[in-house]
Amino acid sequence: MVKSSASAIATVARPHRLLWRNLRPLDPILANAIALLTSRYIGHFAMNSGSSQKRKIADIRQSIILIGMMGVGKSTVGRMLAQKLGIDFIDSDDAIVEAAGMPITEIFDRFGEDYFRDGERRVIARLIEGPPKVIATGGGAFINSETRALIKQKCTSIWIDAEIDMLVSRVSRKNNRPLLIGKDPRQVLTDLAEKRNPIYALADIHVYSDTNPHTNTVDQILEALAKCT
Ligand code: S3P
Repeated sequence: MVKSSASAIATVARPHRLLWRNLRPLDPILANAIALLTSRYIGHFAMNSGSSQKRKIADIRQSIILIGMMGVGKSTVGRMLAQKLGIDFIDSDDAIVEAAGMPITEIFDRFGEDYFRDGERRVIARLIEGPPKVIATGGGAFINSETRALIKQKCTSIWIDAEIDMLVSRVSRKNNRPLLIGKDPRQVLTDLAEKRNPIYALADIHVYSDTNPHTNTVDQILEALAKCT
């Protein structure tokens, strides 16, 4: 099931040839999404003039931001989505690690979570500027009110949602998440989901990740983006 708010803006602003370049022949959902986005893109240029045109062009140049719990697959889905749309992908956690010059576990250990959240907000603010891209964020980014305000103002936000069982099995593959180290992951994820889900629900688009391959989530997102007005 896909929920999308009417206010969400489908925002893939890239010359059409770049979008078409990655299109495989038998991919009807993608073809449909791109056709709709492309016609909207042309429509913006055709229908607007002067300052109103500038505003419309800016609207469709927003980045697409993926939010949701740890282990839901934001990076994998984001990479696939960006590839399909022919735009860049960036993982905000990777950008934080690069900016800080140390792993996230070490940032938490040495400076604490508040420091991490502040750096996360600044890095996301920087990533949002510049050409439109797909950005996968860490699970707590959208929970921070300042980061959320930035995202809501400047991006199309997509909540990837999943059952706790699925998250538990996916997070067990890595040991690099400070909030889970030395704790019962099921308990932590259950508690966090209870607090965070009402906030994630403020995203423009809501999709689900289940036992189906990640391509299914990507298709849900493309469908939802195409329906946005
Ligand atoms: C966090 C999620 C992590 C990372 C940090 C904190 C969270 O990212 O940002 O460990 O608060 O949920 P992923 O969601 O990519 O695991």
